[in-house]
Amino acid sequence: MQTPETYDVVILGAGAAGLMCAAIAGKRGRRVLLLDKADKIGKKILISGGGRCNFTNLHVNPAAYLSQNPHFCKSALARYTANDFLDLMRHYHLSWHEKILGQLFCDQKAPAIVEMLWTECQQAAVTLRLNTDVTQIQRADAQFHLHTTQGAFQAASLVIATGGPSIPRMGATDFGSHIAKQFGLKNIPFSPALVPFTFDQTLLEGLFAGLAGVSTPVAVSCGDGYFREQMLFTHRGLSGPAMLQISSYWQKGAAVQIDLLPGLDAYAWLQSVQQQRPKAELKTLLAEVLPNRLAQRLCETLFPNRPLGQYGDKMLQSIAAQLHAWELTPAGTEGMRTAEVSLGGVDTRELSSKTLEARKVPGLYFIGETVDVTGWLGGYNFQWAWASGWCAGQYA
Ligand code: FDA
Repeated sequence: MQTPETYDVVILGAGAAGLMCAAIAGKRGRRVLLLDKADKIGKKILISGGGRCNFTNLHVNPAAYLSQNPHFCKSALARYTANDFLDLMRHYHLSWHEKILGQLFCDQKAPAIVEMLWTECQQAAVTLRLNTDVTQIQRADAQFHLHTTQGAFQAASLVIATGGPSIPRMGATDFGSHIAKQFGLKNIPFSPALVPFTFDQTLLEGLFAGLAGVSTPVAVSCGDGYFREQMLFTHRGLSGPAMLQISSYWQKGAAVQIDLLPGLDAYAWLQSVQQQRPKAELKTLLAEVLPNRLAQRLCETLFPNRPLGQYGDKMLQSIAAQLHAWELTPAGTEGMRTAEVSLGGVDTRELSSKTLEARKVPGLYFIGETVDVTGWLGGYNFQWAWASGWCAGQYA
């Protein structure tokens, strides 16, 4: 039998959370082994934010995270903040810019973030093994024993940082859930989040026909979610930041309500233009406040297109109401194939919010996307990965 290599901590997954955790645990003098089945570290960081990595958000707060237990993320987010990550970036002379809504992007691009985290790991003497598949994990004598395609390892602490199953073509899996299950911990099933909506063919060939590529600012709501961002028509349905955000709050069969003219009182506006320009057609007027193609389609499918003077007051009210509360029921989403993250993961009631350690299994930690904490679009998910990785790194 092979003699296992012994470490203090084995971390599975060299993504955002795993890299942070490895560096922090290593700096405490722990002998850390970081294992990944991929051929390089930080793959999702590298493709994030169109290659510029939207690495955090100025407005991080617990309300921007979805979880069955919304209080769970508070402790980690309070102990490792966006400013802490900015301090790390300053130390490496990296700079950033805010795009919109507090979203911070790295000026030196995503590879610089991965390099920074890897340098931190190297300074903390972390050992890295790539292309390593774990075939078996057992716990005996207060040690975790791992069998892998690259040999056997053991450690008193095991950190699961294998992320969520979104974008399977990148090798993403629900491995973390299987480990949780193996050790008797509950999971909230993973489901796609921050994902485009798909619609029925009837709608795609009707109201949506010819609109692919059209983008407009909207306010969208569904359940407890409300976002004011851009909406984009696609060949399959609706996308853009507004739709990605609200998809995390959507459940099959529910309608999303779209305000096409947020910030404008459509009824008052229609009344005033009716008086000033009664001969102007509705589609001409709508094209002044909406993309031309969308204005045309609305007047071909939803509203009768007439000179404004010909509408009665009730009709104006009805048009205004539809512009502010357009209800659409998606057929579904594009699923894990394109989802930016996944909802669900290890049930947070199984974990300590301070250490991220499993209550029932001493030495077993879950961090990042493996945990049932999912952020909004805009740097929130990386901040959770940094914060949860940092916290577990203090104790593992
Ligand atoms: P992450 O997925 O980063 O890492 C998991 C690691 O575990 C991977 O290296 C994987 O290879 C490894 N692994 C998986 N199974 C394994 C196994 N069985 N054994 C060993 N290793 C295993 N967020 C954000 O805040 N800002 C942004 O700009 C973006 N942009 C973005 C774009 C795209 C296209 C995607 C898909 C996602 C984003 N995100 C994002 C989300 C963000 O990437 C995500 O929330 C974090 O990467 C999660 O960090 P983790 O460390 O938990 O998992």
